[in-house]
Amino acid sequence: MPRFSLSQPDPKTTVSDLQDLPETPSPKPEASPPAQPRASKEDQSLNEQLLEAKLRIHSQIIDELDLTVLGELSEDDLRTQIGVFVTRQIARERLPLGSQEVSAFADSIVHEMVGLGPLEPLLEDESISDILINGYNQVYVERGGELELSAARFRDNEHLRRIVNKIVSAVGRRVDEGSPLVDARLSDGSRVNAAIEPIAIDGPLVSIRKFSKKPLTLDKLVGFNALPREVADFLFGAVKCRVTAIISGGTGSGKTTLLNALSAAISHKERLITIEDAAELQLQQPHVARMETRPANLEGNGEIKQRELVKNALRMRPDRVILGEVRSDEAFDMLQAMNTGHEGSMATIHANNPREAITRLEQMVAMGGLRISQEAVRGQISAAIGLILQAQRLSDGSRRITHVTEVTGMEGDVIQMQDIFVFNRLDTADDGTVIGEFRATGLRPKCLEEMRRRGIHVPAETFDPTHPLLEVGAKP
Ligand SMILES: Nc1ncnc2c1ncn2[C@@H]1O[C@H](COP(=O)(O)OP(=O)(O)O)[C@@H](O)[C@H]1O
Ligand SMILES: [Mg+2]
Repeated sequence: MPRFSLSQPDPKTTVSDLQDLPETPSPKPEASPPAQPRASKEDQSLNEQLLEAKLRIHSQIIDELDLTVLGELSEDDLRTQIGVFVTRQIARERLPLGSQEVSAFADSIVHEMVGLGPLEPLLEDESISDILINGYNQVYVERGGELELSAARFRDNEHLRRIVNKIVSAVGRRVDEGSPLVDARLSDGSRVNAAIEPIAIDGPLVSIRKFSKKPLTLDKLVGFNALPREVADFLFGAVKCRVTAIISGGTGSGKTTLLNALSAAISHKERLITIEDAAELQLQQPHVARMETRPANLEGNGEIKQRELVKNALRMRPDRVILGEVRSDEAFDMLQAMNTGHEGSMATIHANNPREAITRLEQMVAMGGLRISQEAVRGQISAAIGLILQAQRLSDGSRRITHVTEVTGMEGDVIQMQDIFVFNRLDTADDGTVIGEFRATGLRPKCLEEMRRRGIHVPAETFDPTHPLLEVGAKP
């Protein structure tokens, strides 16, 4: 192991933007590989020496290389140029650095110049799905459903704020005290939310949901035990047969992932229109028209909401409308679409259980201020929706489809629903792992008949309640 490491997370050792240079530029630690254990006293003094050298080399870069020329280079060329310079200086100063450390140092400078600084290695790491920043010196990442503290650090909150502004200026927005909350998207599709002071008390709060290049398929979800194979097959058949499905769940419970996976069942002959606040869906069909809402500009004008897009979509002759998340008065237009020849449309909704999903839909319709009776709204909902799929992130971090519930109609003014499959939580292991089972309730969904007519046969065992379809966690 080398005696020195450039990977020590130290907030004071971060290179600032070269375009936006403070008085004393200081180099930054490389965020990955992970931090080395705390150095001994001797190592520490050597580390300080090294830090000095890094500071020196960094200012030399700024002094000796022509920044306007560098600004015109492609990222690869820039990397090469800086690499050459850093290597030469390191040799000149006889610094005891390994070749990997030299290239990590050069990379970190390039990241500051053309990228998002300490965030770059995290964005490149495909095993990371979320990046959550609580001020300059606390960066959490989510890997395989688990949160962990990463070694990435910013020099100070000002440095972090500058990176945030770099992100949001790319979409024509800005954050400052006047507008301290902002949503943006990175060029690769990752979604960013940032809150800065005074709303954020201890420095900028940044949440990044990375765009996964390979979205999870239904098979993969089955592989992760998110749902049993039998249930996945039933849902696939139902979506294929244009049963209208709503996916309900909390934030990060896997709604969008499930919607995306289920969309694979839709025929390639159909015309799909997707409507989202920030385009996330990655439908595999050739005929997809994608639309995205537009926030108001800096003067507060020009906002285009989901409701307008849903209305517009109906003039665009879709076979199905896929709404990323229904959250407001567009619910009414969505239900209408579902009831008027766009069966098989899908949406996600933020709710904790299927019954609540229905209540929330009612509330959203009411937000539109239309003068229709509650009974009429419920009639619309029960006629429009076939299945509600509940996604949940359990206390152990695992994501499961906990309910497959069918909306069967109205009795009086009450919407009738029946669970077809449920996840029963039975126990919790010592390490917190949730022990449970997926089981059919024994009720046969009404849509089965329509599925049969369309040539989709679901084996009778799928609905057999006498034994679990799948057990997870250790046996109690
Ligand atoms: N069953 C699953 N197992 C493991 N990871 C999952 C599963 N479903 C979703 N994920 C991951 O969880 C994160 C959140 O999923 P997402 O579908 O965006 O949630 P939501 O739309 O409910 O906010 C994503 O990184 C996704 O890849
Ligand atoms: Mg989502």
